[in-house]
Amino acid sequence: MKNNTVLITGATSGIGEATALKFLENSWNVLATGRNEEKLEYLKEKGAKVFKLDVTNEKSIVDLVNFILSGNIKIDILINNAGYGQFGTIEETGIEKARKQFDTNVFGLAAVTQKIIPLMRDSGNGRVINISSVAGFTSMPGGGWYSASKFAVEAISDSLRWELKQFGIKVVIIEPGPIKTGFANAVKDNVVLGTDGPYGNLVKKLTTESTKSIKGGTAVGCANLIYKAATKKNPKNRYIYTKEGKFIKIMLAIFPGKIVDTIVRKLFL
Ligand SMILES: NC(=O)c1ccc[n+]([C@@H]2O[C@H](COP(=O)([O-])OP(=O)(O)OC[C@H]3O[C@@H](n4cnc5c(N)ncnc54)[C@H](OP(=O)(O)O)[C@@H]3O)[C@@H](O)[C@H]2O)c1
Repeated sequence: MKNNTVLITGATSGIGEATALKFLENSWNVLATGRNEEKLEYLKEKGAKVFKLDVTNEKSIVDLVNFILSGNIKIDILINNAGYGQFGTIEETGIEKARKQFDTNVFGLAAVTQKIIPLMRDSGNGRVINISSVAGFTSMPGGGWYSASKFAVEAISDSLRWELKQFGIKVVIIEPGPIKTGFANAVKDNVVLGTDGPYGNLVKKLTTESTKSIKGGTAVGCANLIYKAATKKNPKNRYIYTKEGKFIKIMLAIFPGKIVDTIVRKLFL
C-alpha cells in the first residue's frame, strides 16, 4: 500500500503506536501524531511522518491540516485513537474533570474528524476508524464518565457512517476490552478515588483490585484488528477486541437488566 496514507492520533504509546508500526510494516505511509514530540521520535526512526497534535487544541488541528495540504498528502484513513479514562463516581468527579474527559475523547475526536473529512471527500473513498471501548456499550460503577464519553463516540460514529456513505467514506468502530498500555497510568493520574467519602473503596477496587484477574489483550493484537478493519473491502460496523469484551456483549444481549445488575453488584460492590 505504498501510496496510501494513514493518519493516527495519540500515536505516542499503546494502541496508537502499535497501530502505526503495523501500518509501517505493511508499507503504508504513516502520519503519526501526538502531544509529545520526543515520544514520536521512535516512529519517526521507523519511517513515519510525525506531527505534534493535541486533539483538544483547535490551532493544533488547523496546523495539522496545513501540514497535510502543504505536503500534498492524501489521507486515506483517519484513526481517531487519542483518549484516556477518567474514573471516579459520578457524584465525586468534578464537572471540570468530566468536561475534560469529553474534550479529549469526544470533542477532540469530532474536531479532528470535521477537519479531515473534506480532505477525503474529493477522492470518493476513505475510512474513519474510531477507537471506542467495551465501555462504549456498557457502563460500570466508578466508570460512568469514561463510558459516557465512549457511548458518545459510538453515537457520533453511527451518525457519521450514515452521513458519509454517499461520499464513499466508511466509518468503523473498534471496541477494545482491557489492554495493558499507558492507559492505566493515565487512569492513575486522573482518578478520583474518594476513599474517605460515602463510596469508600469502590473506585479503588474497580481501578486496581478487581481488574488484576483480567487477562485482557495486547496493543499489538488490537493493532492487528484495527489493520483488518482498515483494509477489509467491506468492514463490519464495529469490531470487539478481547474475549472479555465479546463475553460482556453477549451477556448484555441475553440477560435481563436486573440479572446484569446482580452480576455487576457481585463483581464490584
Ligand atoms: N488500554 C485499554 O484497556 C483500552 C480499552 C478500551 C479502549 N481504549 C482506548 O484506546 C485508545 C488508546 O489508548 P491506549 O490504551 O493505547 O492508552 P495510552 O497508551 O495511554 O495511549 C493514549 C494515547 O492518547 C494520547 N492522548 C491523550 N490525550 C490526548 C490529547 N488531548 N491529544 C492528543 N493525544 C492525546 C496519549 O498521548 P500522551 O502520551 O501525550 O498522553 C497517548 O498517545 C483510547 O481512546 C482509549 O480510551 C483503551
